[in-house]
Amino acid sequence: MNKAHTSDHLPKSSLVPPRPMDLSEKPLLQVRSVSKYYGRRVGCEDISFDLWPGEVLAIVGESGSGKTTLLDCISTRMTPTSGMVNYRMRDGTMREVFRLGEAEKRFLMRTDWGFVHQNPADGLRMTVSAGANVGERLMAIGKRHYGDIRETAADWLEQVEIARDRIDDQPRAFSGGMRQRLQIARNLVTGPRLVFMDEPTGGLDVSVQARLLDLLRGLVAELGLAAIVVTHDLAVARLLSHRMVVMKEGRVIETGLTDRVLDDPQAPYTQLLISSILQV
Ligand SMILES: Nc1ncnc2c1ncn2[C@@H]1O[C@H](COP(=O)(O)OP(=O)(O)OP(=O)(O)O)[C@@H](O)[C@H]1O
Ligand SMILES: [Mg+2]
Repeated sequence: MNKAHTSDHLPKSSLVPPRPMDLSEKPLLQVRSVSKYYGRRVGCEDISFDLWPGEVLAIVGESGSGKTTLLDCISTRMTPTSGMVNYRMRDGTMREVFRLGEAEKRFLMRTDWGFVHQNPADGLRMTVSAGANVGERLMAIGKRHYGDIRETAADWLEQVEIARDRIDDQPRAFSGGMRQRLQIARNLVTGPRLVFMDEPTGGLDVSVQARLLDLLRGLVAELGLAAIVVTHDLAVARLLSHRMVVMKEGRVIETGLTDRVLDDPQAPYTQLLISSILQV
């Protein structure tokens, strides 16, 4: 292998279990020719891919390559300039997400989808308790029994390694890593089928990152979640994802199974990225 793009500095192989193959399975999400322009500036351009149930897809690329723009367009947080996104609803029907009614869209955002922000403060309410942050999502889907909600919230805190007795503390009294874990609990409590994550380990210390990644990997596998993870960290892509999309200047440069892309990158840009020259 060309030493110039060796991936020796990355974890050896992805530790995610292979996605269970079922040939009768249909895609969960279809992204078709999605483009977003900010005036004349390209955010992302002509992006297409499928995501399968239980599959974790990493979107990687240098700063400004369009990763967040693409994620926001797919998750309907932003309206693309053109293109289409289809999602398989729980009843099995494939629906165009930008044509959903308000109620259906709310259902997706509150129940079937999760969104983990890079900055936990964007995904949490900082001045209500940890328990309320988790419980709120349950109330949004109609749960009313206070004791049950509190119990479920406490269970979820435990799942993300936050002591149950911190349930009445506000997230602003938590460390960065704890906040991020609380945000994950808040998102997973409704049993979503698809979770969007933008640099989920972004602002954290390396040691905290490693533990959070471990936790995320466990939860994703255990719950059979599909996820789209934006990261500029190839080690995160290696550890979490089955498949990768490499972006540059708003376009897809290379796509493939994570181990293949990292061990045998085809595009010169991917080779550069892996040799860490462009890693930020
Ligand atoms: N609100 C906006 N208005 C104008 N241009 C924007 C806006 N948001 C993003 N852009 C531009 O779109 C391009 C892609 O930005 P985006 O934030 O999607 O990149 P990114 O890959 O997420 O970068 P980073 O790794 O730094 O988060 C950049 O050229 C950026 O300047
Ligand atoms: Mg970004």
